[in-house]
Amino acid sequence: MPQLDTGTLLLGAILLAMALATVAYVAVTAIRGQRRDAARLGAIGFVRSSFASRLDRTIPLNEVLRDMTESLRRNLGLDAAEVWTASAGVLERTVSDPERGPARFPLTPSDESIVAHAPVSGIAWAKVWLPAVLAGRNGATVRIAPVSHTGHLLGLIVAERRAGAPALPGEADGTLKELAREVGVAINNARLDSALEATLEDLRQHAEALEASRARIVAAADAERRRIERDIHDGVQQYLVAISVKARLARQMSERDPARASRLLEELGQEISKALDELRTLAHGIYPPLLASEGLGAAMVAASRRAVIPTQVHADGIGRYPPELEAAVYFCCLEALQNAGKYAGEGATATVRIQQENDKLVFEVQDSGAGFDVTSQGRGAGMTNMMDRVGAVGGSLRVESSPGGGTTVGASIPLRAALTEP
Ligand SMILES: Nc1ncnc2c1ncn2[C@@H]1O[C@H](COP(=O)(O)OP(=O)(O)OP(=O)(O)O)[C@@H](O)[C@H]1O
Ligand SMILES: [Mg+2]
Repeated sequence: MPQLDTGTLLLGAILLAMALATVAYVAVTAIRGQRRDAARLGAIGFVRSSFASRLDRTIPLNEVLRDMTESLRRNLGLDAAEVWTASAGVLERTVSDPERGPARFPLTPSDESIVAHAPVSGIAWAKVWLPAVLAGRNGATVRIAPVSHTGHLLGLIVAERRAGAPALPGEADGTLKELAREVGVAINNARLDSALEATLEDLRQHAEALEASRARIVAAADAERRRIERDIHDGVQQYLVAISVKARLARQMSERDPARASRLLEELGQEISKALDELRTLAHGIYPPLLASEGLGAAMVAASRRAVIPTQVHADGIGRYPPELEAAVYFCCLEALQNAGKYAGEGATATVRIQQENDKLVFEVQDSGAGFDVTSQGRGAGMTNMMDRVGAVGGSLRVESSPGGGTTVGASIPLRAALTEP
């Protein structure tokens, strides 16, 4: 056995002491690290509870996720924590602490389904299923917790420690898993909320469209009612005016001139049946039949025969025009004739002129009767209707009259390209 000198023994003792000191230091550091991680894992309870308490839908989800990510990083002693969200086949980094900016990549439906059902996993798993999530991490270790709801992938929570730092203890996976479940509920609720909001917006738009269409229907119904009212006033009413005038005459004649009275009564009978015809036509919402089939000239000639005062019609040379234009002119002339019959007085006569002048259709109803003061005489429904009818087809009504000087009512209506064809 070789002899050891004192120096060699001393050196050996020093080396042994150093080795023991190193082992002791490593052991103490490990114990301290475990204690620190245990403390951090305890703090996660706070993260979870504060996260859950904030999920009351009044705070925007991104804000809640940002706070949660920051707490997660601080309490687990991470170098980075991130939340990714998945939607429509794209995985996207939504929140990161420290801020890393956006990142997104596509995910196939089958990969999505596999990731959705995966447990909390590390680098090896991510290299196979989510390599894009590992990009730019420079060898850091990660734990990835898939966030899913009823089997659908909603996102990921990524916990990162830089290269060389101690790996996360196994218990951290349980915490990440629980947190992922809560984040899943939160994202799902937020999506339900926004789907609900979209549905509500849809309903709002539908309601607005419905309201607008209802307003249009009401307006159209009102316009139609006014049209019917005008047609009754200007059409059937004038038969009735003539009938009442002739009935009065017949009564006066009955003793003086029974033969003439009986002729008048016969005419009355005919006019009553014509009035009934017109009423029937109107009731069916149909246009005066003669106006529809023969046009303005023929319809006015027929109307002049029913007029209370002798009436001449000059309408040669006019053609056919769109129904609304022919109706406007026809009913205006009828009302003007009706007024002449009512107000012109005995012995008065009337003339109706309708002619086309270049690109205008011009009509005029003139009577030689009592006339009236146009500045002081109020307008009745008849005048208003005439103005409306003429205005609706682009013309404006002209009324010229003076007491004792007769009355002329007329208008000039432009024949626009669209209006020239019947
Ligand atoms: N040809 C006319 N001769 C004399 N006065 C007339 C003539 N046309 C209209 N007037 C006067 O103008 C007024 C207004 O006429 P308008 O047709 O608007 O009403 P109305 O004939 O009295 O009633 P309705 O609403 O039944 O037509 C008449 O009341 C009448 O005084
Ligand atoms: Mg009138």
